[in-house]
Amino acid sequence: MKVIKNTLQMQKIALKYIKDGDEVGLVPTMGALHEGHISLIARSVKSNDITIVSIFVNPMQFDPNEDYLKYPRPVRKDLEICKKNYVDYVFMPSVNDMFPVEHKTFLEVKFLQDILCGAFRANHFKGVATVVVKLFNISCADRAYFGMKDLQQLKIIERMTKDLNFKTKIIPCQIVREKNGLALSSRNSYLSVEERNLSVNISKILKEAAQDFKNKNLNAVMKNAVNKLKEIYGSKIDYAEIINFNDLSPVDKHVKKVVFAVAVWIGKTRLIDNIVMTK
Ligand code: PAF
Repeated sequence: MKVIKNTLQMQKIALKYIKDGDEVGLVPTMGALHEGHISLIARSVKSNDITIVSIFVNPMQFDPNEDYLKYPRPVRKDLEICKKNYVDYVFMPSVNDMFPVEHKTFLEVKFLQDILCGAFRANHFKGVATVVVKLFNISCADRAYFGMKDLQQLKIIERMTKDLNFKTKIIPCQIVREKNGLALSSRNSYLSVEERNLSVNISKILKEAAQDFKNKNLNAVMKNAVNKLKEIYGSKIDYAEIINFNDLSPVDKHVKKVVFAVAVWIGKTRLIDNIVMTK
């Protein structure tokens, strides 16, 4: 496994593989790797000749009051995980190399960037879309792997890839959960033991909602779930919405495949989760 820190060098290496007819898989991450990331890496290693994992805590996707500085950066552990899981290249650029002071280009994905998390994190998805486009160009990836926990991010990247005619195929991967249901996230490391126990209720409530959806109407399902989310000690709901699974648009009564997406604060940690619901 090689660690590459320079954008031009990474692109040169990737281009050479593509020229030789090899297929390249990209797993974009901000590090603090967990089993969720490992499942993405495993999918990439299985389907591609070469797997590149990018580790870059992207300042552009954090609003000024967010956790950019305190975001976990366990570099040594991350590299060990990559090596153990057969990654070929870890791409770890500096902020200066990715976004030199003269950088002026940003990518926006209208509507999708403004709803759900976008309504609470002003420039978040602009930062995500911009960095992901750069990573696609640098890695020349044939396939890129994204988890469904960040469903809005996945939908934005799918839209952007189609709109800009990227050759990169987006591979959505299932949410990985702890045995107790808690969706894995690098931010779970912020939770105290008590908060972790409380957080488990989020996925329980989503699961119950999916069960209710089979024979209850949307409003009843929502009302019940929101009440339960509010009852979690110390919780604050940013949003709880049932929307169309395909394009995250509002749903009407007759839609059969929807997604229930939530963002809930437990103490000082903001957690997101979602569940796909079918009649
Ligand atoms: O999901 C993440 O970890 C990040 O948003 C991503 C896709 C690596 C872009 O910085």
